[in-house]
Order: sequence, then structure tokens, then C-alpha cells
Amino acid sequence: MKLFSSVNDVTDINQLVNEALLHKQNPYAHQQLGKNRILGLIFLNPSLRTRLSTQKAALNLGMNVIVMNMDKEGWALEFNDGVVMNGTTVEHIREAAGVMGQYVDILGVRSFPGLVDREKDYSEEIFNKFVEFCGVPMVSLESATRHPLQSLADLVTIHELKTTARPKVVLTWAPHVKALPQAVPNSFAEWMCKADVQFVIAHPEGYALCDDFTGGATITHNQDEAINGADFIYVKNWSAYEPYGKVFGEHNDWMLTNQKLTLTNNAKVMHCLPVRRNLELSAEVLDGPNSLVVHEAGNRVWAAQAVLKQMLQAL
Ligand code: CP
Repeated sequence: MKLFSSVNDVTDINQLVNEALLHKQNPYAHQQLGKNRILGLIFLNPSLRTRLSTQKAALNLGMNVIVMNMDKEGWALEFNDGVVMNGTTVEHIREAAGVMGQYVDILGVRSFPGLVDREKDYSEEIFNKFVEFCGVPMVSLESATRHPLQSLADLVTIHELKTTARPKVVLTWAPHVKALPQAVPNSFAEWMCKADVQFVIAHPEGYALCDDFTGGATITHNQDEAINGADFIYVKNWSAYEPYGKVFGEHNDWMLTNQKLTLTNNAKVMHCLPVRRNLELSAEVLDGPNSLVVHEAGNRVWAAQAVLKQMLQAL
């Protein structure tokens, strides 16, 4: 694998899930594979889980890791061609990404959307320019429209803990105080649509995701109906796709509570984190026996390790 930016870059998702679980059983089995190889992790936005889990995955494979918080430590990057750089940007992506590619064997980049210009965000301009100019294999650490390492870890978690062959998995919108990207729900939806699960999306009117990501899902505005009999509930806020990046109404009744869990098949509750307690997800659920959020974050290591192993094998 030379590029990991979406589920479409994966030849066999079941094999990748099984590989992640093998890494979990035996983390250091491939220590020689990454010897003398460098992973570069470039963050244009903050991170806890993605940064630490991907770094740990690389170390488990014997790689060395270079991390740069580009937003705080780097020069302000220019992404447009043909401009006179007499403003705030200092270095063009053509040189910056090209130079990064001189120092690393595999490059990971995190870049959030602006949530202002939908066409620009959905063209994945920033991530794709890194791909174009760095000259080395690349892994997404979350881009404008997708978070594939998160989604792979989510699928690993569901596969690991399911008690029926084809579980009912519900992605439910949750309240928030900010306009958040659609990357996590888009990505979760496109991975679930390719997995062997019954997949339902529930959101208030106005929060429909781009249908490029949701083909095959059942979509409803009735949360109670959606979670009825659910085996897994994936909780996440997102802003509107149309009108782009907007939020409207409070919908506080969409927060998952223990009372709502009584409708489910004792559903396990997932969230990518970070989560705002008692806004997006109730503390009683987060602290209760159904919450998988920390376990799920732990699986980020094995998901990243499975992906990096395939990338190292292709070098
Ligand atoms: N879920 C996730 O990607 O967490 P971070 O933003 O902390 O990396």
C-alpha cells in the first residue's frame, strides 16, 4: 500500500482488520520490518490519539518517528499556485512537502477542513498537495473529509466485540456547541457500508451527510427508531453538509443517556474522542459498562500498525 487516505485504498478490509488483531496479540513480531525506516508525522491541527497511537505503532514495527506540529512550529504554508507570496504565508507546499519527503520513508499528515468552502474542502486540496509533492507513501492522520485510521480502529473494535455475525451498528448525530467537520462520520459511514453489518444513520433534519459516503445505509431522523435493537452505537456530532459547515437548533434531546440505551440490544457505545461530557454524550454512559471509548482508542495502535506494515512492505 502506497497511500492510505480512505477505505478505497484498501484491497481487503477483512484482512486488514484481522492483521490489526494479530498485531494486538503480538505487537513486536515485525520489529525488523521498520529498521532504519523513518515515519514523519505532520500535524496542521491538534491531536492526542492519532499522534500517540501512530507513533507507538511505528515504534512497535521498529521504525523511528519524526513529529512536527506544523501549526505551531513550522512556517505558514502557501497552497495556491501562481500567487505573489507577499502576505502571511512563508513557504510553498511544493518546497515544504518536497523537503519532508527527503527526510522520511512514509509521511502522515493531519489537516482539518476550513468548513467555509465546501468545494475546496471536498477536493482534499491540502492532503492531495502533500501527496503530489512529497514523493513518498502517505497516510492520512485525518483530512478534510475522512479519518481512515479512526474508522479502521472502529471496525476492528466492532469485529473484536460483536456477539452476532451481522451486528446492527448505528451512527447517531449528537449535540455540540461548535461546528465540527464531517470527516469522522463520513469515514465511519463509508467503512461500515463495506463491512458485514446492518448500518443505520440517525440525525436531525438538516444534517444529511454527503451521499458519496452513505450509499447502502438506512438513514432516519428518528433516533429512538434507529437505536432500537442496536448492538453498537457510534456517537458523533457533525455540522451540515448543506448549507455547508452550518449548525442550527440545539437538539439537546439527541444526547445518548442510559434511558435511551434501554431501547437497544445492550448496545456498546463508541466515540472517536475527544468528547464533551454531558453535551455530546452523557457522563453516565461514558462511565458505564457499555462504553467502549477507551478500548476503541487503544485499538488505534493496532489499526495504524496494520496500515504501516503494509506500507513498509511496499517500499
Ligand atoms: N480520534 C482522534 O483522532 O483523536 P485525536 O484528534 O486526539 O487524534
